[in-house]
Amino acid sequence: MRLNSPQINIITRACNKASRSLIRDFGEIENLQVSSKGPGDFVTSADKRTEKTIIEELQRAHPEYGIVTEESGVINKSNKKNRWIIDPIDGTMNFLNGIPHFAISIGYEEENEIKCGVIFDPIKNEMFCAEKGNGAYLNNSRIRVSNKKKLKDALLVSGGPKHESKKKDEIFSEFVDVSKNVYSPIRKFGSAALDIAYVACGRFDGYWQRELNYWDIAAGIIIIKEAGGFVDFFEIDSEAPLKKNILASNSNIHDELSDLILKKNIE
Ligand code: IPD
Ligand code: CA
Ligand code: CA
Repeated sequence: MRLNSPQINIITRACNKASRSLIRDFGEIENLQVSSKGPGDFVTSADKRTEKTIIEELQRAHPEYGIVTEESGVINKSNKKNRWIIDPIDGTMNFLNGIPHFAISIGYEEENEIKCGVIFDPIKNEMFCAEKGNGAYLNNSRIRVSNKKKLKDALLVSGGPKHESKKKDEIFSEFVDVSKNVYSPIRKFGSAALDIAYVACGRFDGYWQRELNYWDIAAGIIIIKEAGGFVDFFEIDSEAPLKKNILASNSNIHDELSDLILKKNIE
């Protein structure tokens, strides 16, 4: 078997189980969109239901492990050695609007290091997974980052500033600075987990985003590394260890992109 840690099998099982009701729920969205109430509450319960199924599956295997989740917070706080990091639906806005681009993301962390992870897009049936030292895969095929050498030839993806971000203007100007240096415009697809997974399999050449939560990217960290990419956390805020600014790329363009974002070498 290509990936064989017990943890990856547990995560894969949890993803498959949770995705069944998630796919059904997504099928309902179209009807709810035209109802006067809209799909908001329905999506919140789909999110919670997905997380519940995932937690039940993971706990069945390891009731003692710590769990960091978006919806339920931290479970088994005292276990910091073994932790699952879960985002039940990454790309909620897409899900809510009936756009088939969202994913379940689950990472497994040991002694503060991500050892394996899965990002599962249930609609396209694409499962990205990786395990330390054993490579990264999309379904049954090995994946690798792209080989583009220059930022000007790259296709980049980023999430952009959040509405509540106080630094909105600064981040927009960062977008402008970076887009001046790439041939294609920067894409914004609305799922951090899939953004990283797409860099890992070479669809995009680089990704950066500020103010993410750990659960958005935990699984992505190991997937991009095992696909031969490079991941960097910049301007780290030690007061908020679960908040991350991330830059992930095919490694060839890493320094160029990093200089632009950190505002080095800009005339
Ligand atoms: C969001 C998505 C989005 C990113 C946001 C995240 P959610 O996660 O990953 O792409 O730009 O910062 O919060 O809310 O859909 O789980
Ligand atoms: Ca998320
Ligand atoms: Ca989420």
